[in-house]
Amino acid sequence: MRSTSSRYGAVAQAFHWLIVTLVLAAYVMSKSDSHSLYAAEADRVRRIHETLGILVFIVVVLRILWELFDEAPSKPPMARWVLAGSKFVHLALYALLILIPATAALGTWLVGIPITLLGFDIPPQITQMRELGQLTMALHTRLASAILWISGAHAVAALFHHFYLRDDVLRSMLPRN
Ligand code: HEM
Ligand code: HEM
Repeated sequence: MRSTSSRYGAVAQAFHWLIVTLVLAAYVMSKSDSHSLYAAEADRVRRIHETLGILVFIVVVLRILWELFDEAPSKPPMARWVLAGSKFVHLALYALLILIPATAALGTWLVGIPITLLGFDIPPQITQMRELGQLTMALHTRLASAILWISGAHAVAALFHHFYLRDDVLRSMLPRN
């Protein structure tokens, strides 16, 4: 279950790939034929999108708590700047994984709309401030695009490690074969 010195454990791997799946699904379900997710005809897509997004938040918090019981594998020898770069990217990904759902929840409530989790509506818990809400949602959209680009670069880096540097970085996040 726990990570070893050379490989992420089953729990850390399950968290990683569940988060990847949920983020991609939330992104796909942010697109509807209507110009806005707030439109009545986009209601079903918005409900699915919000549920997936809140699940991302819950799973990321659990993943961070698991970090208290589990130590990441040690890295294969690599240049100091590569190591620092990978630390920075992982931190940036965690920051975005928290900020994207946080801006969405805040923005949705500031606009004055309930948030949906598994079919249940959670009504706004703060005073309505429509313009600030719209600005916060614009930030949410920007951050969501940013995580796609950064995680894309992160995935390319993992493939570069595997196919070019031929080290165990990618294997450390894959189930044993
Ligand atoms: C990692 C999780 C999430 C990702 C990747 C994500 C991604 C996105 C993207 C890309 C858009 C812009 C869609 C477009 O107009 O092209 C968007 C809009 C939106 N998201 Fe999320 N989202 C996430 C989580 C959430 C959560 C947790 C909520 C609700 C609590 C939420 C509520 C919304 C709403 C209401 C909009 C429409 C905003 C508007 O039209 O002004 N999202 N999201
Ligand atoms: C939304 C997409 C993704 C996100 C948000 C993400 C996030 C993260 C985070 C936060 C870590 C740090 C370790 C941890 O805490 O679990 C990590 C590690 C890792 N990820 Fe991803 N990841 C994504 C997609 C991918 C993809 C597509 C691949 C493979 C092609 C990949 C391969 C790896 C590998 C190999 C590691 C271990 C790297 C190391 O220990 O230096 N990730 N990822």
